[in-house]
Amino acid sequence: MTAGKKVAVVGATGVVGQEMLRVLHQRGFPAREVIAVASERSAGRKVAFGDRELEVRAICPEVFEGVDIALFSAGADISLEWGPVAAAAGAVVIDNSSAFRMDDDVPLVVPECNIEAAANRPRGIIANPNCSTIQMVVALKPLHDEAKIERVVVSTYQAVSGAGAPAVACLDAQRRSLALGEPLEMGVLEGQLAGNLLMHWSRDEASGYQEEELKMVHETRKILGDDSIRVSPTAVRVPVATGHSESIALETARPLTPERARELLEAAPGVEVVDDFAAGVYPTPLDCEGRDAVLVGRIREDIGNPGGLQLWVVGDNLRKGAALNAVQIAEALI
Ligand SMILES: NC(=O)c1ccc[n+]([C@@H]2O[C@H](COP(=O)([O-])OP(=O)(O)OC[C@H]3O[C@@H](n4cnc5c(N)ncnc54)[C@H](OP(=O)(O)O)[C@@H]3O)[C@@H](O)[C@H]2O)c1
Repeated sequence: MTAGKKVAVVGATGVVGQEMLRVLHQRGFPAREVIAVASERSAGRKVAFGDRELEVRAICPEVFEGVDIALFSAGADISLEWGPVAAAAGAVVIDNSSAFRMDDDVPLVVPECNIEAAANRPRGIIANPNCSTIQMVVALKPLHDEAKIERVVVSTYQAVSGAGAPAVACLDAQRRSLALGEPLEMGVLEGQLAGNLLMHWSRDEASGYQEEELKMVHETRKILGDDSIRVSPTAVRVPVATGHSESIALETARPLTPERARELLEAAPGVEVVDDFAAGVYPTPLDCEGRDAVLVGRIREDIGNPGGLQLWVVGDNLRKGAALNAVQIAEALI
């Protein structure tokens, strides 16, 4: 591919789509044209692209004419229906939804881990992993390369923006009602998140896990190219606007001290070590908002599992967890 691309952002009115437009502009992506696409409901609306405004177009086959790169973030159903249409029209589709992630003919790519996989895309589609998986594998990759990770126990503390714009509005409304002592609307959150935490992703009856958790199991293996890694996840939604946090405990096949892990993480692409816990320094969701790097702190030996390691990993779910990762893939294509 050469520079001067026509880029479509599908889902341009959503929280990820808006972040995609911001990231494309901030990074000076070499686009000769950017088009904003959403549902019929949003046709004619304006969305910001730098200091310009783009008029939103309703999705239809014609919007993909001449498009080189189509960044999709409009949910799995839209990707399943329209991703192949965009690919058939000649676009490389980079899809943020879960629609194609585990398809053998679709690479699942985190540039810091496996950008080479993006070259083999028989369906013309590249999948962006789940936000929680992305920030975890960015931190795990250098440790896996050095010592081979065998087991990961991870608990997430996921921001409400990970559930989309309606969920953000719903939490704001719940907070206002709580402050005024009025009855709370559960809305799209399907429960009280203000002053609380929730586990309301789709449940997999057979395993007792949430789909969000199973994504971390399967996507981690696909991205790191190692089906032997055992992942034990618990996913939790917390009343934080932006920034997912993860408590990770891991075991490796070869010895890995906290000191060596710190060295590896300090040298790793896409990682920033923020770790001086004795001085009260550790990453928080507010620290990562708007930042590209995945922040890693609390690097320590696992007191309950000598030889194991524990980490605290924080990342901007809209940026590295979605929009930035997709744009980095697009940058690698040109
Ligand atoms: N939020 C995150 O942290 C995150 C991270 C990784 C991946 N993702 C994935 O990214 C996708 C979007 O998430 P989001 O959080 O940005 O959701 P969102 O804020 O709810 O935005 C959804 C977008 O999809 C568009 N859309 C809905 N129905 C459509 C249709 N029939 N045709 C065309 N466009 C349609 C919406 O357009 P209208 O305004 O016209 O309805 C809107 O632009 C999801 O697949 C999600 O799983 C999200």
